[in-house]
Formats: sequence, C-alpha cells, structure tokens
Amino acid sequence: MNDIPEKKILVIDDEVYIRDSIIGLLEDFGFNVIDAENGRKGLERFESDHPDMVLCDLRMPEMDGLDVLARIVELNPKIPIIIVSGAGNISDTVDALRLGAWDYIIKPIQDMNVLSHAVNKSFERVKLIEEKHRYQMDLERANAELKISLETIEQAQDRLVQSEKMAALGELVAGVAHEINTPVGVGVTAASFLDTKTKEIKKIYDSGELKRGELENFLQVVEEVSNSILINMERAAELISSFKQVAVDQSSETRRKFNVKEYIDEILLSLKPRYKKTGHHIRIDCDDDIELNSYPGVFSQILNNLIMNSLIHGFDGILEGIIQIQIVREKDQVIFIYKDNGRGMTPEQKEKVFDPFFTTRRTKGGTGLGMSIVFNLVTQTLKGSIICESSIGRGVTFTIAFPVLKEDRA
Ligand SMILES: Nc1ncnc2c1ncn2[C@@H]1O[C@H](COP(=O)(O)OP(=O)(O)OP(=O)(O)O)[C@@H](O)[C@H]1O
Ligand SMILES: [Mg+2]
Repeated sequence: MNDIPEKKILVIDDEVYIRDSIIGLLEDFGFNVIDAENGRKGLERFESDHPDMVLCDLRMPEMDGLDVLARIVELNPKIPIIIVSGAGNISDTVDALRLGAWDYIIKPIQDMNVLSHAVNKSFERVKLIEEKHRYQMDLERANAELKISLETIEQAQDRLVQSEKMAALGELVAGVAHEINTPVGVGVTAASFLDTKTKEIKKIYDSGELKRGELENFLQVVEEVSNSILINMERAAELISSFKQVAVDQSSETRRKFNVKEYIDEILLSLKPRYKKTGHHIRIDCDDDIELNSYPGVFSQILNNLIMNSLIHGFDGILEGIIQIQIVREKDQVIFIYKDNGRGMTPEQKEKVFDPFFTTRRTKGGTGLGMSIVFNLVTQTLKGSIICESSIGRGVTFTIAFPVLKEDRA
C-alpha cells in the first residue's frame, strides 16, 4: 500500500458522494483523512487540524474554491493543494494553478488511480523540496564551517610566518655572537700581553737600568700587538654593525637606499658561521655600483632562505658544494640568479617548492614555509617574479626578476 501512512489530507467538497468516495479511497491507501463540506468550514479545519495536503473542489457554496485556495496559500505556501474540479471549469482550473495549486483532478473521477497518482506525486514533490532544502542548509553550514577553518588556517599561517622570522633572527644572533667571539678573544689576549710587557718595562725603567735595545724591542712589540688589537676590534665592530643592520632589516620591512653588493657581503658575513666549517663555497658576481631604493630586509630573508636550503637540502651528503649568485642590473629591472650544484629536485618537488608547508624534511624540523615566504616577498613586496629550474643531480637555479623604482633607473 502506501509508504507514507501518517500523512493527513483535508478533503473539501460540497457533493457528499464525491467526498465520500475520495475519502474512502484515500483511507484505503492508509492516509488519515479529514473533510469539510464547504469552503468556510474547510478553512476552519485547515487552521485547526494542520493537514499535510488539501484536496479542494472549486465550485462550492459559502466560499468559492479559488478563495479557499488563495487563503491557504497565504497561510502556508508550502502546503500541496490539489484541485478537484468539474470538466467544464477549465478556465477556473487554470486560475487555480496560477494561484498556487499543485495539480488538478477532473470530476467525476472515473479512474481512482488518477487520484492516488496525483496525491503520491505531490507528496513526492514535498519530499524532494524538503530534501533540497536540507541539502542547501547542509551546504550553507559546511560553507560557513569552511570559511571559519580557512580563517583559522590563515591566522595560523601568519603566526607561523612570524615565528619563522623570529627563529631566523634568533639563529642570526647566535651565529653572530659566535663569530664576534674570535676577534674579541684575540683582542683581550693581545691587550693583556701588552699590559704585562708594559709593567715589565716600567719596572726596568723605574730601576734606572733601561737599555736602548730593550726600549726598541718593547716599541716593536707595542706596534705589532696594538696593530693586531686594532684589526680584531675593527673586525668585531664591522660584524656588529653589519649584524645590527641585517637584524633590523630582517625584522622590519622598511625601505631604504643601499648598495646591493655591500649588503650581500654583510648578509653573507652573518651567514658565515653556518657554512665556514664545511667545504662549501659561495661566489658572488655583482657590480659594485648597483644602488637600490628597496627593502633590504627582504633581500636578507630571500638570501637566507635560499642559502640555508642549499646547505640543508641541496648539499645533503655533498662535501664541496658551490653556490653562485649573480646580480645583473638591466634598464628597468634587476635580475637575480641563484644557483647551487647540489642534489636538485624531482619534478614533483620542483612543482611544489613554493607551496606553503611543502617540505621533504618534516620530521627533521622543516616547516616548508621558507620558499613560500620567498615567493610572497618577491611577488608582493618586490612586485617581481621567481622561477625555479631543477632536476635530480643537477642542482637548482632560481631566477628572480623585479622592477627598479623610477628614481633608481640609470
Ligand atoms: N636548493 C635546494 N636543493 C634541493 N631541494 C630544495 C632546495 N631548496 C628547496 N628544496 C626543496 O623544497 C622544499 C621546500 O623548501 P622550503 O624552504 O619552503 O621548506 P624547508 O626548507 O623544507 O623548511 P623551512 O625552510 O620552513 O625550514 C624543501 O623541503 C626541499 O625539498
Ligand atoms: Mg627552507
């Protein structure tokens, strides 16, 4: 029989035998049927009994079927209404459909299958509409959830990028502190040596036994040792000032005028502790006179990431790697070519190298953010482009091109 027995159907018809035959049939199908003999009563029952469907005659005393229909649609636009009308009322039926009736059956109903078909079809449609509505709600909810996840991911990514920057700065500080230790240590030793020698000669001088030869010897020691102190202190001062600049640049994104070659030398100086005990070499090919009004911190971060990647990924298992950095100034742009002769990348790795969180060293502390930061710095801050060429065993080449500010053009 019917698979939706719980449904309640309101039958409104003034002709008692038609009403009874419809009711009988619907009850046979397992529906719960209520009825009314005219439009006014029909409306009352509609409001008091909340049926799931209405079957309504058109021509009735007291209240016309079309008025009942209009009122029901107003009360509940989702309720399925099937018109039961005489064969002569075609134009009324058309009006009813316009007003919101779902279907119609012509009286007298000769084939009861027509009725059951119309009723079932309308209930099917209700089900479909409800399902569609549910899907839509699900979709909207899923969309809202996705939006929230996306925002959370973006925030997390921002935080990671920030902490990555801070970590790089921390490494820089540690490396430079180590590097400054050597010249300062040499300076302290030389100064204390000078102190001892000075005390010795003062004692001899005080005793009045200072010989010319001894004084000449002392003067020579003073000259050599103070020279060594000077060289080492200068070296320390140089390290500190370049570190200060690189560190400030790395943590901020301010624009200033700088000489590219000198700045790259400063960056390399601060990176030196990371590779000086290896057999790797870094070669720079850059004209002395390229001046840019740009973001030095961006250069420092780009170079840092590229070099650290060569040292960590490219030269993994390689003792003597070579990094070549070439900077060429063309009329309106600067071309920066970075090469290493390391292990290179597979086509899949090359494809994903700029994707955030892509790393082949997840378990060894890689976050996979380095190259995505480089990509963003090049394309967004420098308004340039970056391409990567690489294959297994043939190292990597990154070609970065970015426009020169108008005032810097030659
Ligand atoms: N010079 C290179 N030689 C070989 N592979 C490289 C080189 N540079 C990058 N890659 C590959 O690209 C991946 C992504 O590099 P990226 O700098 O974005 O992340 P990471 O170095 O793994 O981690 P992080 O830089 O965040 O510590 C690396 O994991 C590595 O597989
Ligand atoms: Mg990296």
